[in-house]
Amino acid sequence: MSKKIRLAVLISGRGSNLQSIIDVSKKGMIDAEIAIVISDKKDAYGLVRAKENDIPTLSLSPKDYKNREEFDKKVVEELNKHKVDLVLLAGFMRIVTPALIEPFRDRIMNIHPALLPSFPGLDAQKQALEHGVKFSGCTVHFVEEGMDEGPIIIQAVVPVMDNDTVDTLSELILKYEHKIYPIAIQLFAEGRLKVEGRKVLVNKEGMSSAIYKLDDNNVKINPIL
Ligand code: GRF
Repeated sequence: MSKKIRLAVLISGRGSNLQSIIDVSKKGMIDAEIAIVISDKKDAYGLVRAKENDIPTLSLSPKDYKNREEFDKKVVEELNKHKVDLVLLAGFMRIVTPALIEPFRDRIMNIHPALLPSFPGLDAQKQALEHGVKFSGCTVHFVEEGMDEGPIIIQAVVPVMDNDTVDTLSELILKYEHKIYPIAIQLFAEGRLKVEGRKVLVNKEGMSSAIYKLDDNNVKINPIL
């Protein structure tokens, strides 16, 4: 295994994606370790998960900052202090500004519970159900200015059934979220991702078994790999 990259995970709430990243990292399934978890909500349950796993945490209250830029500058200061290579937005309910995007261009990922560019923004699963789509899923993308925008790294597709509710669809999508985020992280850690305009090219040469292990038979994402 190559040297581990250092991750920051930014959260606002429950932190189930954070948990899945903690789990694969502890098992040594990704060449990455979480250097810090930052929350904009002091009572985010994800902070508890991080502390239980001895991961440094930081809670920043937006009301202590003049505007979004100032908040993001503080985040960047912390990311630099912790020598972070890759930033993961995982249920981070804030719009990020160029103050954060510029210094970490192509090094910030977000996960969204829909097949972008369909259904960006809040309540993506509800939007998908109300639209009547037959398939939905989740997307990991690099973060650019604009809500849920930026080059797409990986997506997983799930069928939408007639009797699905927001809860059942969200639960199924979440299962895939927990799979594709670690895969995206490992692809980055192995230096396989190259952004060309809107596209992310994945170098599949000599793909390591680490990535295939993340894509197990229970939840198969494999066609793109
Ligand atoms: C996930 O559905 C993610 O796609 C979206 O926010 C939710 C966060 O869930 N951006 P969790 O906090 O990781 O459990």
